[in-house]
Amino acid sequence: MYRTHSCGALRASHINTEVTLAGWVQKSRDKGFMIWVDLRDRYGITQLIFDEERTSVDLMEKAKSLGREFVIQVHGVVIERESKNENIKTGAVEVLVTELIILNDSKTPPFTIEDDTDGGEDLRMKYRYLDIRRNPVKENLLFRHQVSMEIRKYLSNEGFIDVETPYLIKSTPEGARDFVVPSRMNQGQFYALPQSPQTFKQLLMIGGIDKYFQIVKCFRDEDLRADRQPEFTQIDCEMAFVEQEDVLHTFEGLTRHLLKEIKGVEVDSFPRITYDEAMRLYGNDKPDIRFGMTFGELNDVTKHKDFKVFNSAELVVGIAIPGGASFTRKEIDKLVDWVRRPQVGALGMVYVKCHEDGSYKSSVDKFYDQVDLERWAKKIGANAGDLICILSGETNKVRAQLSALRMEMAERLGFRKADEFAPLWVVDFPLLELDEETGNYHAMHHPFTSPKPGQLELLNSRPGEVKANAYDLVLNGNEIGGGSIRIHNKQIQAMMLKHLGFSDEEAKEQFGFLMDAFEFGAPPHGGIAFGLDRLVSILGGQETIRDFIAFPKNNSGRDVMIDSPATIANDQLKELNIKLDTQE
Ligand code: AMO
Repeated sequence: MYRTHSCGALRASHINTEVTLAGWVQKSRDKGFMIWVDLRDRYGITQLIFDEERTSVDLMEKAKSLGREFVIQVHGVVIERESKNENIKTGAVEVLVTELIILNDSKTPPFTIEDDTDGGEDLRMKYRYLDIRRNPVKENLLFRHQVSMEIRKYLSNEGFIDVETPYLIKSTPEGARDFVVPSRMNQGQFYALPQSPQTFKQLLMIGGIDKYFQIVKCFRDEDLRADRQPEFTQIDCEMAFVEQEDVLHTFEGLTRHLLKEIKGVEVDSFPRITYDEAMRLYGNDKPDIRFGMTFGELNDVTKHKDFKVFNSAELVVGIAIPGGASFTRKEIDKLVDWVRRPQVGALGMVYVKCHEDGSYKSSVDKFYDQVDLERWAKKIGANAGDLICILSGETNKVRAQLSALRMEMAERLGFRKADEFAPLWVVDFPLLELDEETGNYHAMHHPFTSPKPGQLELLNSRPGEVKANAYDLVLNGNEIGGGSIRIHNKQIQAMMLKHLGFSDEEAKEQFGFLMDAFEFGAPPHGGIAFGLDRLVSILGGQETIRDFIAFPKNNSGRDVMIDSPATIANDQLKELNIKLDTQE
């Protein structure tokens, strides 16, 4: 037996017990006549002691040879520790070692395996298996496990069954590029890895599995960000015979369950906001509602003067920053520089200081008087002591810019508290989105989403105005889930694909299997998918999903540990009948 106890198990009640432990050497302190070794495993740290008086010369020598991260097995007796360590669970005891077996030695690790490590991101990713030995990473993985277990428990209790769907499939359009896999047996043909199991879960509904879920890997070849990985995990769900209300109700239940079980938080309400309202009030379809700072539109109270910038703008919009009136000129200049950074892209910023005495001081005093400024403050809901920041220009751009400023200021002012949770449903998304570059419409969610009842007729005349039966779940400013009620009628699906620019042949070739299936008694159905990585990281109080993934990819989509993607052997290429440009 390698071990009788884990390194986190021993307490004062074990004193005088003979134990066998196994683990890694965290560190050792050699006083010559006495050696202490911290032995670590997944469960904790136990102090080992070797001392001249009670330990043989050979054993002392062996103990002296131990280096960091050596893997050892020890046998000994639990004794009371002279100086107790209140900070660790095993701090009342130590193990007086009588036998030591070195199971494996270790090179000196490239960074310290401690909570605060000296290892930079690249190094930690290259040696991720060492990084995982560190508490913060290990705890994130344990936390993820706990969340997935609770999800399985909840959904299974609600009657959902876990069905696996294939990974080698045909393109499923979720708005990103596909990762493709060449087929050796069907030369010149390729599988696509699923961007989501969307079509399969719809087929399961047609198959009569009326409540499906799967915690499943999805693959999307898109640019990476803190909340995006090329392979990520969805909690994918679908239900038959449901309306939007049923889906929202079920997944509100799941979210409440997780917040309660995992965080001990009971949320009072799950507010809903329409997409249009979210854009108007927050400039964003995934607003963080833990704090106010909502937008106030100022077009009608700014356009009567000679200020050309505002007069020519499609949208003039501002927010109030609490306490910002005390910002110095220098601080405000820095804020202006911040919104002008290319990442934000504003051309400039107008500001108004709302002084405690009820007067206003603005950067456009030349054009506007106190009555104007007071009107603006009212529209924005600014209080005495606030700083109003106003941006203007093209509606979509300005909203995005002001939303970035709102989030940045909330972060700086400490309004984005990790232990506060504010879920929000965003509903009534537009069905279609105009691609500014090509001038074509594409599905905002995916092509299988149904329009709101009665809106089908609008598709021809005013496609941009058609609303979808689609919804997103937002948690603390992050989109953690999205779904919709689906089309389940062949003609409507065909019409939708036509509007999205598919020819009849293309529609048949790519989605014929689904449309054919609709002809065999497809029930009304709908569902949702949560991003597990995002959900876990937000519940864990962070926004970088990489920290909750055992083996993540870096920002260039590379796994620097196994060094992939990589070239493949010529033989392999030949077998697949693939010729690269660089080959003869
Ligand atoms: P959607 O594309 O909105 O919907 O994806 C669902 C959720 O998955 C998460 N997500 C990601 N997480 C990490 N990295 C990524 N690259 C990434 N992309 C998406 C988000 C998102 O809300 N089939 C539909 C669902 C449905 O209609 O039922 C779908 O995939 O949290």
